[in-house]
Amino acid sequence: MRVVARRPILEAEATGARQADAAHLWHPWSPVDLAIERLMLVEGHGCRVVDDRGRSYLDLRAGTLNAAVGYGHPRVVEAISKQASSLMTWDLAEVGTVPAALLAQRIASITPEGLNRTLYCNSGSEATEAAMKIARMWHALSGRPERTWVLSFFDGYHGATVAAVAATGVGFRRQGSGPFPDGYAHLATPRCVLCAAGQTHESCQIPGPDQWREQIQRIGPDRVAAVLVEPVLSVGGVIVPPRGHLRALREICDRYGILLIADEVATGIGRTGRMFGFEHDLDPGTGPDILTTAKGLTGGYAPLSAVTVGEDIYAVFRRDPLLGGLRHGHTTGGHATACAAALAVLDVLEEQNLVTAAAARGEQLLAAVAPLRASACVRDVRGLGLLVGVEMDCLESAAEVTGAAQERGVLVRHFGPVITLAPPLIVTPQEVQIGAETVIEAVHLTGRDRA
Ligand SMILES: Cc1ncc(COP(=O)(O)O)c(C=O)c1O
Repeated sequence: MRVVARRPILEAEATGARQADAAHLWHPWSPVDLAIERLMLVEGHGCRVVDDRGRSYLDLRAGTLNAAVGYGHPRVVEAISKQASSLMTWDLAEVGTVPAALLAQRIASITPEGLNRTLYCNSGSEATEAAMKIARMWHALSGRPERTWVLSFFDGYHGATVAAVAATGVGFRRQGSGPFPDGYAHLATPRCVLCAAGQTHESCQIPGPDQWREQIQRIGPDRVAAVLVEPVLSVGGVIVPPRGHLRALREICDRYGILLIADEVATGIGRTGRMFGFEHDLDPGTGPDILTTAKGLTGGYAPLSAVTVGEDIYAVFRRDPLLGGLRHGHTTGGHATACAAALAVLDVLEEQNLVTAAAARGEQLLAAVAPLRASACVRDVRGLGLLVGVEMDCLESAAEVTGAAQERGVLVRHFGPVITLAPPLIVTPQEVQIGAETVIEAVHLTGRDRA
């Protein structure tokens, strides 16, 4: 592990932050007694972050899939600084701000024609909530108030707020958070029911359109407002559905008058080697009816999410009897400084051709860790673009590998038994190589692989 003992970093230790953290900070999605050392990060450059003891780590998780253009990018930092010193924010209810307007226009320019109206929120979870509300309200305002159900994949992840959790089927994420609102059901995840991976064996049986149609028929298509899916399931275990699944869902939605919501919080803005994950599967120029983005949108420089719809959905909200518009929003949704950051991130993405780079580096990463399939403690290796999953035999193995990689200077995150490799899109071939070698070494070090 590289040690960069610079004064400001070492001084950070003297602030007492570690003690303050231990005494007062509640870490989300994390055991109170974490098995591995809880790092205190103080700065980052490119794909590396540095802790208060001067230790430098290669970030193979892009924070949590959001640090798309890496750390300390001067272009983004300058945009944030300029915006913060002119007008940091304003609630968008009755006014506009320049970066919020320009970003909405920019999003319209990178989405298929027709997806041209953006509502801002602050997080991926809020975007999910807003998208589901918009779908239900749109149906109600169009004379179909009985269409309230939202269907999503059992293993999908759409956020941590109550209705977003209702949209996930996995017990670990649900238990103890209910009661949940009515009107949620789960479609069978497109992953093999025999080996739980998929597409790698001839015998794989992967649920698809027939099962989904049947499930929709059972609920009653006229009661369904929306189908909410991730083009590639990320937190749910890097599940790459077979080609054609999203197209089939698009057709099912069209047939039954159901809105298709693509949750691209993780997959959007280049992560899978296309600007949006749905581009891998839908015909060029076609998209979902509602698109949610977050994470990579600001490259992690500020909290921001976006819900983008077509004019046909937007215009209907004029009919709302109480407001004549959308009764939804957040004080800092579309925060001007966050929008300025997003505009700079999209500039960097375009100028450095990072979406194409993500496809190439993703192939390299997948090929580099693919030999792990032969390890006794590895069940599967899969991925798309710079979203690669190494599925271990159990949660404990994944936690062990995460710890061993951290000790060797590489940060990965595991979601359940799946180690997720998702570096910033600026990652270099050398960094991919170092990262992959370290993960392989960490896997080989786990007790179960040695046995
Ligand atoms: C696909 C997807 N949707 C929604 C969310 C929730 O986003 P946030 O954590 O910003 O609320 C996440 C977070 O990982 C995600 O991966």
